[in-house]
Amino acid sequence: MEENLKKHLWWQEGVIYQIYPRSYQDSNDDGIGDLPGILRRLDYLKWLGVTAVWLSPIYPSPMADYGYDISDYQGIHPLFGTQADFDTLLDEVHKRGMKLILDLVPNHTSDQHPWFQESRSSRDNPKRDWYIWCDPKPDGSPPNNWLSVFGGPGWEWDEATGQYYYHAFLKEQPDLNWRNPDVRKAMFDVMRFWLNKGVDGFRVDVMWHMIKDDQLRDNPTNPDYQPHMATYEQLLPVYSTDQPEVHALVTEMRQVLDEYNERLMIGEIYLPIHQLVAYYGIDGKGAHLPFNFQLLQLPWEAPKIAAAVAQYEGVLPDGGWPNWVLGNHDQPRIISRVGREQARVAAMMLLTLRGTPTIYYGDEIGMRDVPIPFEEVQDPQGLNMPDKNLSRDPARTPMQWSAEPNAGFTTGRPWLRLAQNFNRENVEIQKIDRFSMLSLHKRLIELRQREPALTVGDYKPVYADTQLMAYIREAPGQARFLIVLNLSHRPGYFKLKDRSISGTIEIATYPELEGMVVSERINLGGDEGIIVRLDDSIPS
Ligand code: GLC
Repeated sequence: MEENLKKHLWWQEGVIYQIYPRSYQDSNDDGIGDLPGILRRLDYLKWLGVTAVWLSPIYPSPMADYGYDISDYQGIHPLFGTQADFDTLLDEVHKRGMKLILDLVPNHTSDQHPWFQESRSSRDNPKRDWYIWCDPKPDGSPPNNWLSVFGGPGWEWDEATGQYYYHAFLKEQPDLNWRNPDVRKAMFDVMRFWLNKGVDGFRVDVMWHMIKDDQLRDNPTNPDYQPHMATYEQLLPVYSTDQPEVHALVTEMRQVLDEYNERLMIGEIYLPIHQLVAYYGIDGKGAHLPFNFQLLQLPWEAPKIAAAVAQYEGVLPDGGWPNWVLGNHDQPRIISRVGREQARVAAMMLLTLRGTPTIYYGDEIGMRDVPIPFEEVQDPQGLNMPDKNLSRDPARTPMQWSAEPNAGFTTGRPWLRLAQNFNRENVEIQKIDRFSMLSLHKRLIELRQREPALTVGDYKPVYADTQLMAYIREAPGQARFLIVLNLSHRPGYFKLKDRSISGTIEIATYPELEGMVVSERINLGGDEGIIVRLDDSIPS
């Protein structure tokens, strides 16, 4: 990179790829993905061009919430392998010049964690205060009206000690009391354990839940609640989440990371944008990347998305690095939300916006949500609210590697059924097809990583209407790019009012357009997106 470009950190220049380990690659025929399986696929990830891999939890867990209920923060679940397997994986990731990010789940443990076992053993156990215990109301009911995200009340009665404990998620996931300094110390030591091994960072689970109102006040009713929504949304979680004190805590976690060189802290935070950006912390001493889920949540409409990007760019604090997410293990897959054609446009958007992109495994081959028959549903969110279509299983199905049985994922019985069309939609087939979703991803990543304007350059919105959005990415002394995305199925016409454009289409969602010289006016077919390398003569 040229000297006049500011130096950026690995996670600013990189592309993150999320793996749901249960579903990536099985190596021992038990139908469940594991660490040696991931190891076998590292060359694929390197080929794809991603630079960092985030693993959903791999720790010992009773699997009530598929690993987000941890019973030992410093171990590896035997289903996934051994500590030696982990060390090998970390080493091999590093050997390929990539980074490894672990999931850290500090808000709650499993109810089988020894800390909770002790805590629930008696009211005067030294670890009693590590969790959120509270007396019932005089009539025996829970201390307040807080609800569990996964349905039902947020409080569970403990007969033996005559108190309730709070769980934001399942009753098997009791919330830790982060106001207790011993809890902080214990979890910071967990972080150090992995950082000492050389892990490059954490994705911190439900960061905005970590501290609750100290008076445990009732949450207010949500005036916009509709019956199809999760029961949790009946209330606005104003006292159970996003408390002012959480920011000091995030800063403390960041300080632990800062004891090491260039480690990354991502925060999982579902909040409106103004509240979200507060998690960068004062003077940028909070999370490096508070996950930005806007593309997962907004209606897929050009004016709304263009406005959201502009708003996000506008409220980012000084030095706050943007990021974009198109899919994860909790949300419907992008292709199932916006359709096959628009998923290509979405990929182009994700990989050309300013800020670190996160790709969810399988989205690079256009995996769809797989309909899981009711009797096969595994996800507790789906099981607890069966009539609301909230199961997350459809987005967690095994990776489709090839047309072999079970798509090459396992020779055993897969823990979750695979997409029926895996013999047509898989890595092996798409690798050799220039028009495939996989080829599009690989080329977009390659261009992004090669061109400083796309990796770290500025973002300039230039146009948006009811169908199209367009922006320029540029960096001092570097090639500049115009990105025009048609978010509709109908043709759209693009022309800049106050200046002329000329350049060559470098990548298009329909590759037939590539190499075409454009000037003045650009006519885009429905679902087309293009990246134009602008001629140098263009005034900025
Ligand atoms: C996060 C995880 C989700 C999990 C929940 C409780 O939202 O992404 O999968 O169920 O936290 O840990």
